[in-house]
Amino acid sequence: MWCLLRLKARTTCLKVWAVVGSFFDSPEHLRAPTGADVHLRGFSTFGIKSLRVFDYKKCSLKRYGIRMEKYSKLQVFLHWATFILVLFQFLSPSGIGEVFKLRLENKDFEVGALVSLHMAVGTLIILFIFSRVWMRLSGLVPQYQSNGQRSLKILARIIHFSMYGVLLLLPITGGIAWFQLSIDARNIHEFLRPVLLVLVLIHVLASLFHHFVQKNSIFKRMWF
Ligand code: HEM
Ligand code: HEM
Repeated sequence: MWCLLRLKARTTCLKVWAVVGSFFDSPEHLRAPTGADVHLRGFSTFGIKSLRVFDYKKCSLKRYGIRMEKYSKLQVFLHWATFILVLFQFLSPSGIGEVFKLRLENKDFEVGALVSLHMAVGTLIILFIFSRVWMRLSGLVPQYQSNGQRSLKILARIIHFSMYGVLLLLPITGGIAWFQLSIDARNIHEFLRPVLLVLVLIHVLASLFHHFVQKNSIFKRMWF
C-alpha cells in the first residue's frame, strides 16, 4: 500500500512530503536537511530504506536514508510469535514421531488433531520466516549496538541468519519426510532440532549479555 504523507519537522518550519510504503506503525527517524529530527509516526516502512523529501525553500527534491531505532511492530510481532510457535512445536505432545513410524512400517495409523497442528504450525513458521527474511534483506534492521565491536557484529549476523536458515529447513524437511515418506528428510529434520536449540541458547545468552553487561537498549529494539 502506498500513501502520501506530510511530515512535521520539529524545530523548523520546513515542509516535508514523503512517499513511503505504509503497512504497520512504528516511529522512525529521519535527519532533515537542516539537522532537525523528523519523526515518522503512524506507519512503518516495509522494505523502504529512503524517503524522497521536497524542500520548499530550496525547491529541490532530495533522498534521505531512514535510520531505524528499533525493529518495526510487524517485525517484533513476528519475532515473538515465532518464538511461541517454536516453543509449541517442541513442547506439544504431538505424537507425530509414532504416527510417522507406523506409516513407515505400513501399519494402521490415525492422524490426530495434534499431528495436523504440528504440520499447520510448521507451515505458519515458514511463512513468518520468509516475510522476516524479506524485511531483513530489504534493510529493515536497526543499527548494531555493541560498542562498535566488529567481530561481535559479524557473530550476531551469523547466528541470526543461521536461525533463519534452520527455521526454513525444518518445515521443508518435515514436509518432505511426511509427504514423501523419506527417511533421509526425517533424519535431517531430527538433526536440525538440537542445532536450532543451541543457536537459540547462544542468541538468548547474547541478548542477556547485551542487557545486563553492556547495558544497552537491546530489548527495547525488539519490543512494541
Ligand atoms: C525460537 C526462538 C528465537 C528465535 C528463532 C529468534 C530469532 C531472532 C532473530 C533471527 C533475530 C534477528 C532479527 C533480524 O535482524 O532480522 C532476533 C533478534 C532478537 N531476539 Fe530473538 N529469537 C528467539 C528467541 C528470543 C528470546 C527468547 C529472546 C529474549 C531473551 C530474544 C531476544 C531478541 C532480541 C533482543 C533481538 C534484537 C537483537 C538486535 O537488536 O540486534 N529472542 N531473534
Ligand atoms: C519450524 C517448524 C518445525 C519444528 C520446530 C518441528 C519440530 C519437530 C519436533 C520437535 C519433532 C519431534 C516430535 C515427536 O517426536 O513427537 C518433530 C517431528 C516431526 N515433524 Fe516437525 N517440526 C517443524 C515443522 C514440521 C512440518 C511443517 C512438518 C510436515 C509438514 C513436520 C513433520 C514432522 C514429522 C513427519 C515428524 C516425525 C519424524 C521425526 O521425528 O523427525 N514438521 N518435528
